[in-house]
Amino acid sequence: MTDPKRLHVITWGCQMNVYDSARMADVLAPLGYAPTATADDADMVILNTCHIRDRAAEKVFSELGKLRRIKDARAEAGHRTVLAVAGCVAQAEGEALLERAPYVDIVLGPQTYHRLPEMVARAARAAGAVIETDFATVEKFDALPEQAATQGLTAFLTVQEGCDKFCSFCVVPYTRGAEMSRPAMAVLAEARRMVAGGTREITLLGQNVNAWSAPGTDGSTWGLADLVRALAAIPNLLRIRYTTSHPRDMNDALIAAHRDIPALMPFLHLPIQSGSDRMLTAMNRRHTADEYRHLVGRLRQARPDLALSSDFIVGHPGETDADHAATMALVRDIGFAQAYSFKYSPRPGTPAAGAPAQVPEAVKDARLQELQAALRDSQAAFNATSAGQIVSVLVTGPGRRPGQMGGRTPALQPVHFPGSASLIGTEVPVKIVATTPTSLSGILDPGFLVEELARA
Ligand code: 5AD
Ligand code: SF4
Repeated sequence: MTDPKRLHVITWGCQMNVYDSARMADVLAPLGYAPTATADDADMVILNTCHIRDRAAEKVFSELGKLRRIKDARAEAGHRTVLAVAGCVAQAEGEALLERAPYVDIVLGPQTYHRLPEMVARAARAAGAVIETDFATVEKFDALPEQAATQGLTAFLTVQEGCDKFCSFCVVPYTRGAEMSRPAMAVLAEARRMVAGGTREITLLGQNVNAWSAPGTDGSTWGLADLVRALAAIPNLLRIRYTTSHPRDMNDALIAAHRDIPALMPFLHLPIQSGSDRMLTAMNRRHTADEYRHLVGRLRQARPDLALSSDFIVGHPGETDADHAATMALVRDIGFAQAYSFKYSPRPGTPAAGAPAQVPEAVKDARLQELQAALRDSQAAFNATSAGQIVSVLVTGPGRRPGQMGGRTPALQPVHFPGSASLIGTEVPVKIVATTPTSLSGILDPGFLVEELARA
């Protein structure tokens, strides 16, 4: 038996980081580390960082400053605190991070989490810090232990990592490395374990998840559509989603999967970034705005109720008022159910960061406000179409008010309705009686209630 120790993980950034944080906790569990909610009493603190936007490095150093004070205070009381920095800032900064924060014990990139126990042991022995920022994704996938048995009712499963697209503005190809897919067999085994532990909805994760391609269970090479089909055969797995996708990798088979596989939810996060062809070229997105419109048309033909989500960047170098107007027109044309929008932020080492025509901050601010207002309207209009409809809700827990339950529709809209906790973990039909710009409320479908009573 190892001594019990406490682990505190701070997670910033994307869903993949959330997943990775859970896996780091899984890897450390056999060493006796159990989670604790605060850094103050932790024997080990992991700061899992994000480098995608904003002042990533400054944010990390400011948090590290706080953690250093805790580490010093604990040291005075005779306790050691191992301080680890993980994630994309660790990958991007490497040694430089230790120069500015020499009190950090471990710096580890996203592809090295499976070696964490060994690093902890080395950190305990060594006087200096341990740095691991290699790029061996396959090894990581193979070497990570099984996920802890019980995930939530809705859970993430990483099936793909890395990106080969090299968009002009993005650090991911540098911090997460080349595209790499996890074999179907491993994904299916993990999914089955999750469902056995109570998970009812799985979101397949990947930086370019629709580029997933790996050996299938029959020895042939599968694409994401094949993987989704195999997952849909798992009993009690009610809902399947995937994120994030690139328009270029949205192939016929995947479009057909949206038509043919009921468990594949009618929701798709498909970033476009800009509605201007000039900007799309500058961004190295390798598709035009009309190609995106056409793709959305085909998807909606296959699945008319498909809800679309996207990412936008305003103020990429060279963006003019006319380019921005093209983005606004695209938002009106498509009608997004929801979307994320960001001001362009230069990432060191990416092509766009060195481009001469940087857009002034005030212009970015104004464009972002205009875009976000349009996206809010679009989301409100989408939610308003649910009024009076009967929607299927996967009940995940208590709702907003006492006596209410809450969950999500297939299109990911939050729903609240009067109901009992016995419904948690099931899909129920809810008649929507009121909508807000961001959520729905309703009552259990009276027909369903009659059936329930008859069953009781
Ligand atoms: N500046 C602003 N937004 C960015 N994103 C990625 N890199 C940058 C950047 N340098 C956004 C993109 C991407 C999302 C995850 O983050 O919209 O799709
Ligand atoms: Fe970044 Fe582009 Fe790859 Fe998405 S597709 S992760 S934006 S480089």
